[in-house]
Amino acid sequence: MIKDSIIVALQAAQARDKYLTRDTINAVAKRFHVSPSEVYAIASFYHQFTFTPQGEHVIAVCMGTACFITGASAILQMIEQELGIKEGEITPDGKFSLTKNTRCLGRCAAAPLVQIDDTIYEHATVEQIKEVIHGLR
Ligand code: FES
Repeated sequence: MIKDSIIVALQAAQARDKYLTRDTINAVAKRFHVSPSEVYAIASFYHQFTFTPQGEHVIAVCMGTACFITGASAILQMIEQELGIKEGEITPDGKFSLTKNTRCLGRCAAAPLVQIDDTIYEHATVEQIKEVIHGLR
């Protein structure tokens, strides 16, 4: 199905660039002989795609109900203090970005969850995530 192929192309572009640019949307549209608005509609439907620049390391703290009640807020607050940014922002050096409004990552039994790049930290703690961030600096 062409939609699946478009998603795969968008995933590859985002893995390369960390976000989807207008040029990427246009290039994918041209490649699959559809309109840019059709590609944008597909990309904007899925939470995995972003249209804003991302840091070298992308951090997402799940704020779904299970994670919220098991301590995600404290982890998010520590990250914001450590990096000096809020959700949806990128550090001035471009090293880290903090994803805004991350909701259930689908592993509620392991709450709270924090995703840093391709790694998901289950039963995350403030100390553990602080250590990971320090290691990436
Ligand atoms: S609420 Fe965080 S994984 Fe479901």
